[in-house]
Amino acid sequence: MIQTSYSKAISAVKNPAKIVLAIVKDKNGKINLITLEWFMKTSIKPPMMAISIGHTRYSYKCLQDFRYFNLCFPSKEMSDAVMLCGTKSGRDLDKLEETGLDWFKGKLAQLPILKEAAANFECVVYTQVKSGDHTIFVGEVKYSWLDKEKEILLFEDI
Ligand SMILES: Cc1cc2nc3c(=O)[nH]c(=O)nc-3n(C[C@H](O)[C@H](O)[C@H](O)COP(=O)(O)O)c2cc1C
Repeated sequence: MIQTSYSKAISAVKNPAKIVLAIVKDKNGKINLITLEWFMKTSIKPPMMAISIGHTRYSYKCLQDFRYFNLCFPSKEMSDAVMLCGTKSGRDLDKLEETGLDWFKGKLAQLPILKEAAANFECVVYTQVKSGDHTIFVGEVKYSWLDKEKEILLFEDI
């Protein structure tokens, strides 16, 4: 064991890791998708999940204005969409249209449920906490969707 930099140590223990998409909506009703590595389960009763969003992201602004998000676990066939949503900003483009992903209306807040995904969770923002240059949004899961036929995308697949 040797002392090293934070970036060396954290990248060495990162994988295997999952990647998710958070689906949000801006104040004008435009849907936005953001790729996230930083997410976690935070409660069983009621079920809750948290996502950590950088303050420079358009999605951060969306979450301030519209207090819902869908957490989507992409399937392997969604790797191109995941790269696009992790490298382009919703300020400049309609990512939902650009990805060409199929979706249907969710039960909770009419945020899209992505059909090609392995699972989707519809969340209401319960609380948020600032964490340096990111904010952690904790969402209470209201409805869950699963497609057991889909193989889940891992970080190493992209
Ligand atoms: C693999 C991968 C993981 C990422 N994880 C996060 C994350 O956990 N939190 C975050 O704020 N940004 C993360 N990003 C960066 C955002 O997805 C990226 O800045 C995106 O373009 C922001 O879009 P927006 O401006 O439409 O919100 C990640 C990007 C990639 C490619």
